[in-house]
Amino acid sequence: MRISTRFTHPAFDVMLSSQGLSKSRLILPLFIVDGLNQRQPIEALPGQFRWSADTVVEEAQRIADLGIPAVLLFGQSPQKNAQGSLAWQADGTVQRAIQAIKQAVPQLFIISDVCLCAYTEHGHCRVLKEDATDPSEWLVAPTLDAIAKTALSHAQAGADMVAPSDKNPGNVKAIRALLDVQGFESLPILSYTLKYASAFYGPFRDAVDSSPQFGDRRSYQMDPHQSHDVLGLVKQDLADGADAVMVKPAAPYLDVVRQTKDVFDVPLAAYQVSGEYAMIKAAAARGALDETKAMMEMLQAIHRAGADWIITYWAKEFAALENTDAL
Ligand code: PBG
Repeated sequence: MRISTRFTHPAFDVMLSSQGLSKSRLILPLFIVDGLNQRQPIEALPGQFRWSADTVVEEAQRIADLGIPAVLLFGQSPQKNAQGSLAWQADGTVQRAIQAIKQAVPQLFIISDVCLCAYTEHGHCRVLKEDATDPSEWLVAPTLDAIAKTALSHAQAGADMVAPSDKNPGNVKAIRALLDVQGFESLPILSYTLKYASAFYGPFRDAVDSSPQFGDRRSYQMDPHQSHDVLGLVKQDLADGADAVMVKPAAPYLDVVRQTKDVFDVPLAAYQVSGEYAMIKAAAARGALDETKAMMEMLQAIHRAGADWIITYWAKEFAALENTDAL
C-alpha cells in the first residue's frame, strides 16, 4: 500500500497492518454537544449518545481500553448563522472536546469531521448567496475559506487527521494549503471523496440537527441515481492532497469500494452510516433478525469489498466480541 509520509501516529501501526476483519480497522463516530455532564441518548440511533467535552473523555478512555484505535468527532451547534462561523472557533464545542481527549487519552487517534452543515442556519455544507433558494447558488471563496479555517481550528486543538465531508469542489486543496502554511504539513487528510446524497443519513441529521432547510444535497454530493467518474474523483482528490479516501455510505456502494480498491493503493475508508445501523437496530428490536449476526455479516462484507478502515457505530460491540474471543 502507498502509505503517506503523514501517517506517523502510532495508531497507524495497527490501523494499516492488520490482517482480516478486526477491531484495529474500526473508527467510532462520536457526537459532541455544549455544556457539562451530558450523555444524551440519540433517539434515532439507539445505543449512541451526545457527549459534552467532559463526559466524552471518559467514553474515549473506554473506547481506547477496548482496543479501538480511532474516533471520528462531530460537533453540534445550538447557534447557527449564514457563514457557519461557530464551526471554527478555537474554544468551540468540538475543539474543546478534541483538546480534552488529546490530553487524557493520547493513544486514541482523533479524526475530526470538517463541515458547515451543523453550523449554518440553512443546513447546507457551504456558504450560499444571500437570498439563495437552492444550494447550487453558493459562494466559492467564502466557502473554501470557512472549510479551511474549520480544519485548521481542529488541527490546532489537537486533531490527528481532518476529514472534510462538505464535498465542495476544491475543499481538499484549500485545507492542505492552509494547514501547510500554518505548520501542519504533516497532518493527514481523509477526504469523503465518494460521498453520495443518500437517504441513509436520516438518523444522523437528527443527531446533529443538520437537515437542509430547503433543497437537497444532490448539487454537491453524488446523486445515487446517476453514474459517476469514480476513479476520476479519487485521482483528483489525491492530486489535491488527500492522504486517504472514503466511500459513504458503505453497504449500498460496495461496488464503488471494490472499484476504488482495485485501482488505488491508498488507505480506503468506508462509512457504515447512521441509516445502515438504525435499520438493523429497528429490525432487531422487532425480532425480525439477530443484531449481532447482521452486524457481523455487514462488516465482513464491507471488509471483503476492500475497505481498510470501517467507520461504524458498532465499533464497541465488535471490539467487545473480539476481546472475548466470541467472533
Ligand atoms: C456532514 C455529514 C453527514 C454525515 C457525515 N457527515 C450528513 C450529510 O452529509 O447529510 C452522515 C453520517 C451518518 O449518516 O452516519 N456533511
